[in-house]
Amino acid sequence: MTDKPLYHLGDGIVLGIGSRMTELCDLKHDQEIQIDFRFIEPLEKISLGWTGEGYESFIPRLLAEGVLAEGPATVDALLHERLGALDQLFLSSYSSALSERAKRAYRLTLDAHARRKRFFTRVGQCPTLPETSLRRALRVGDALEVGKKRVLCVGDDDLVSIALAALGHDVTVFDIDDFLLNFLRSTSTTLGLNVTVVEKDLRDPLDASERQSYDLFLTDPMSNRDCFEIFLSRALALVPPGSPGYVAVYGPTERLFRAVAQEMHFPIEAWHRRHNRYYSQYMKIHPYESDWVEIRRTSETVIKHSPDEFCVPLNLYAEQFYQRPPIFVAHYDEIEEPKYARPLFLDMIFDVVEQNTAFKFVERAHLLGQEWTVIHGASEAGHLTLHVDRERRTLSLALFPMKADVEDVLRHAVMSAYKTHAKAAKMGTTRDVWDLRVR
Ligand SMILES: C[S@@+](CC[C@H](N)C(=O)[O-])C[C@H]1O[C@@H](n2cnc3c(N)ncnc32)[C@H](O)[C@@H]1O
Repeated sequence: MTDKPLYHLGDGIVLGIGSRMTELCDLKHDQEIQIDFRFIEPLEKISLGWTGEGYESFIPRLLAEGVLAEGPATVDALLHERLGALDQLFLSSYSSALSERAKRAYRLTLDAHARRKRFFTRVGQCPTLPETSLRRALRVGDALEVGKKRVLCVGDDDLVSIALAALGHDVTVFDIDDFLLNFLRSTSTTLGLNVTVVEKDLRDPLDASERQSYDLFLTDPMSNRDCFEIFLSRALALVPPGSPGYVAVYGPTERLFRAVAQEMHFPIEAWHRRHNRYYSQYMKIHPYESDWVEIRRTSETVIKHSPDEFCVPLNLYAEQFYQRPPIFVAHYDEIEEPKYARPLFLDMIFDVVEQNTAFKFVERAHLLGQEWTVIHGASEAGHLTLHVDRERRTLSLALFPMKADVEDVLRHAVMSAYKTHAKAAKMGTTRDVWDLRVR
């Protein structure tokens, strides 16, 4: 125990560590603050509800701004409310059939998710909704009915371990992420549950003592060959022949997963489609979803990566399926000089794009109204479409496929012609869409 004061991130504040940047998201005020890498470690510690030791000089300011609150880590009321509401979208269809113990397991799982204040997408983390974690645990069953199992979670950013422990199982989590493990250790203790955590990079060999020590496993690897092979080689080596395992598989990679199953000789016993729903650090449903697949280790199963050896994958954290290129859309409000936003001038924007990039139009079409104009330029690979509403003074455009150099030329051309005095700009990116809003 320390007598130094403890702090935690204020309600609605989460730390998001991505591959491109790290941000503090203020969900109450819908704001994001970019964080210098030097502050990641102290903020991670504070997200766990530790002392701010070594960084005392920042604390008064962060307290005044509501980024920090005093006291040990606790359930974040805002996260609890938002995740609870997302869960209801699915939970309401089956919650009346849940036993009292399953309901309690759900409450504890939701509490655990609402205590987690840090998201780490760099190692492929994207958590499932608490209700999905519960449904995964219920596929294993309540220990009172199926007997107490030694369950292994191979990676557990989904916090399924909490639901499994609440259903009475002995749960162990292997994960590379020490923050997640510290979080699971302290959260399970606070919730009165028993979860054992082991810091492990699955690319490293397994200790001899660990092998065949569990009755079953659950895992949610990235859906690519390297990750399937490594996560499954380790997971299958940790259970004896005859044991079941549960694996999340992204729908579009089903064929790849079935090929891996054939090569490694493990039977697929059940395939639950669209079983797993996920959320983002903004407490919104993530567009990603996956299937839940039941497999089994048999005496014929071939462990592709020997448990004695290191594996050196090239492609651990990418999803392996046909990646559609993203589309770029932009919306400019309050454009200046709408009277010049007419076909003759708008066409010049298309000319600038064509002259300065490899984007060549095979055809241009013009659609005209009294107060609006649409120009559609088709290229062999995609299109650029521009719409102007002169009455409302808005200009919108869509560019497919999104290419950074074309977008750059396009943006400069539009801004210098119609938006020389922008008040604010916001850019949102997802897997499929880059969305620019300029006011
Ligand atoms: C691979 S991630 C994927 C999860 C996510 N739900 C999805 O499919 O988008 C699942 C868990 O594996 C852990 N993990 C990632 N790489 C790992 C490694 N090399 N060794 C051990 N655990 C790892 C992550 O920290 C995370 O908790």
